Amino acid sequence: MGDSTQFVIAGNWKMNGMLEESLSFVDNLTENPAPNAVEMAIMPPYTLLHSLSKPLAEKGVVLGAQSMYFEKSGAFTGSISPLMLRDAGCHYVILGHSERRDIMHEGNALLRKKLDAAWENGLEPMFCIGEHLEEREAGTTNEVLKNQLSVLAGTDVSLPLTVAYEPVWAIGTGKTASPEQVSETHAFVHQELARLGRKCRVLYGGSVNAGNAESLMACEGVDGALVGGASLKADSFMEIVAAAARVAA
Ligand code: 13P
Repeated sequence: MGDSTQFVIAGNWKMNGMLEESLSFVDNLTENPAPNAVEMAIMPPYTLLHSLSKPLAEKGVVLGAQSMYFEKSGAFTGSISPLMLRDAGCHYVILGHSERRDIMHEGNALLRKKLDAAWENGLEPMFCIGEHLEEREAGTTNEVLKNQLSVLAGTDVSLPLTVAYEPVWAIGTGKTASPEQVSETHAFVHQELARLGRKCRVLYGGSVNAGNAESLMACEGVDGALVGGASLKADSFMEIVAAAARVAA
């Protein structure tokens, strides 16, 4: 777990998944072809965390959640705490996903509280950053990413962190960033993280599928994928894992 593997292939199920179909998903997962090189992770909705925790662990898949609130417990109707995620067997928690930033208006100040709460409770944040199309077209991508990463300033660099670069215009659109855009942007993200004293994995996300995973994983500075739609079916998820294993070989 953590930095021991070369790639992480993480499935963000978003608001998808019922109990029965998700148990069949786990049943249909085949063996990880390169467990020492590729870590598999699944982030189902909260309602499935407890039920999937054991079956996923038996298949060598790490469990994560898609979000959380920053308090441990209390009068916060509708919220889930980091302690509850630990109790359900989570290792990762996605924070800063563009859907949370844009739809739920989560900004830097709130995200810093959530990052700190994740670390205080032994979770590894999978911290998402990414620019909108207008920002890329206006040439402000690096500025946007730098601002999103500035939330990490002053945090303890020994605490575990995975970053996911997900250009918003590539999410759910079938449009992926080109290998040149991916390499260039990942180089910038790694450089910015280094400036903040961090060396960590940077995953790519945005319309990753079985057909494009190998070329994306082969890009310089890419340490895995955060996969939405293509992670909902065991066969396409495993094909992406296999693509990462080929690149790692
Ligand atoms: P898609 O793979 O469906 O584009 O979603 C990407 C994503 O948002 C993963 O967090």
